[in-house]
Amino acid sequence: MRASFAILLGLCLLSACTERQYEDYGLSSDAELQLTPVSHPRGYGFADCFACHVHSNIHQVDGFNPVATEGARRATANGGIESCRGCHGSNGVSE
Ligand code: HEC
Ligand code: HEC
Repeated sequence: MRASFAILLGLCLLSACTERQYEDYGLSSDAELQLTPVSHPRGYGFADCFACHVHSNIHQVDGFNPVATEGARRATANGGIESCRGCHGSNGVSE
């Protein structure tokens, strides 16, 4: 029992458990930042973004607009969920 736990822990440390998984959808324009039922099928209509998205794993990949990504890191550090609308739209949630 103990040995198998140690092996499991060892495998875990060597692999995914310690690796950060940054979110990256290969977005390529400001228009694509606007969330729609088509672009955001599993997250559309929800107000609590951080129920699914881990703050420290988003806005880490500088894609088509590194300035905005940098801005997003700063805006969301203190602003929380209400700070998302300016760039990603309402996500189908009214004010
Ligand atoms: C119920 C889980 C869930 C919630 C809540 C959620 N998302 Fe998502 N989000 C996802 C998933 C899953 C994806 C990948 C695309 C898909 O399958 O919908 C995604 C993708 C995205 C993307 C990249 C795709 C794109 O079209 O730009 C952005 C940006 C995003 N979410 C922002 C938000 C914001 C902002 C909120 C809060 C208003 C939010 N999400 C709430 C699950 C969620
Ligand atoms: C200043 C504009 C701005 C704000 C504010 C902003 N974002 Fe983003 N967001 C971006 C940009 C630009 C990208 C695309 C990054 C890239 O090139 O992949 C992005 C991408 C994302 C993605 C896709 C995964 C990724 O990291 O690329 C998610 C999820 C997301 N944002 C969630 C949020 C949530 C949740 C909030 C509010 C807490 C928020 N954003 C606020 C500009 C913003």
